[in-house]
Amino acid sequence: MRPRILVTGATGTVGRQVTAQLVEAGAEVRALAREPAGLPAGVEGVRGDLSVPGSPDAAFGGVEAVFLLWPFASADGLEGVLEAVAGQARRVVYLSSAVVRDHERRAERLVERSGLDWTILRPHAFAANTLRWAGRIRAEGVVREPYGRAAMALVHERDIAAVAVRALTEGGHHGAVYELTGPRSLTQDEQVRVIGEVIGRPVRWEEATPGSARRRMLARGWPPAAVDDVLRAQAAMTAGPATVTATVREVTGDPARTFRNWVAEHAHAFRV
Ligand SMILES: NC(=O)c1ccc[n+]([C@@H]2O[C@H](COP(=O)([O-])OP(=O)(O)OC[C@H]3O[C@@H](n4cnc5c(N)ncnc54)[C@H](OP(=O)(O)O)[C@@H]3O)[C@@H](O)[C@H]2O)c1
Repeated sequence: MRPRILVTGATGTVGRQVTAQLVEAGAEVRALAREPAGLPAGVEGVRGDLSVPGSPDAAFGGVEAVFLLWPFASADGLEGVLEAVAGQARRVVYLSSAVVRDHERRAERLVERSGLDWTILRPHAFAANTLRWAGRIRAEGVVREPYGRAAMALVHERDIAAVAVRALTEGGHHGAVYELTGPRSLTQDEQVRVIGEVIGRPVRWEEATPGSARRRMLARGWPPAAVDDVLRAQAAMTAGPATVTATVREVTGDPARTFRNWVAEHAHAFRV
């Protein structure tokens, strides 16, 4: 019988890829979201809200493994969800973060104590984060932000998903904490240059002050603490090249995809 696997966050950046790759691997996939639309053929969409106790429970029935995304700034409520999962499934793969903020650390502890076979994914910054520049690049070919020298090894969502699919479908990943990066450290101004090269139009980085970026984010309604976190993290990333891990290759057998490859797949978003 085909393994039945539940993907939470199945319509998001990573979950969409996990779902597609599980289907390709021949698994029976159930997808949970509040609006489970646009799923690949054959995937069973289940509507549920992870923040509402009991709401997602129907999705857990008869599943063997769960890809767990917890898109909240607190681990409150996760224990109940894990209890419901442990009543049905045998395995959980939790999408944490390389930054491991307090609520993520708490969530990781809960996952480890769930009684399930667990795997934790700690991705670094997603290549998809650069889509936030798409509007400015289309409009004027300029990105005005602070910390152009901030370096990161941006990771392709397909690679995060490929590691998740291995951990969801094979033995040998219980207790593993996988730190995931792309293959190379690139500064933000280098990322912008790569986007320009791929779309065939010059795109330049214009260094802005942290103060102006702060005002812009606050005006968009970001909470002040989150704004400060982002700016502090970016300032720290100017200290030197970012960490690059070999985990994607070690787990999947394939090299991590480059940022240039990611841009080529998403070039339409940056082109006029
Ligand atoms: N961006 C980065 O650089 C980065 C780096 C490391 C880790 N992460 C982690 O990655 C996660 C985000 O992944 P992503 O970018 O793939 O997500 P995303 O694109 O923001 O999509 C979120 C998904 O979760 C679903 N969802 C949201 N609220 C929900 C709720 N209350 N109940 C049920 N489903 C809900 C959404 O569908 P509906 O809206 O239809 O419910 C959607 O499928 C976060 O936990 C973040 O901390 C991000």
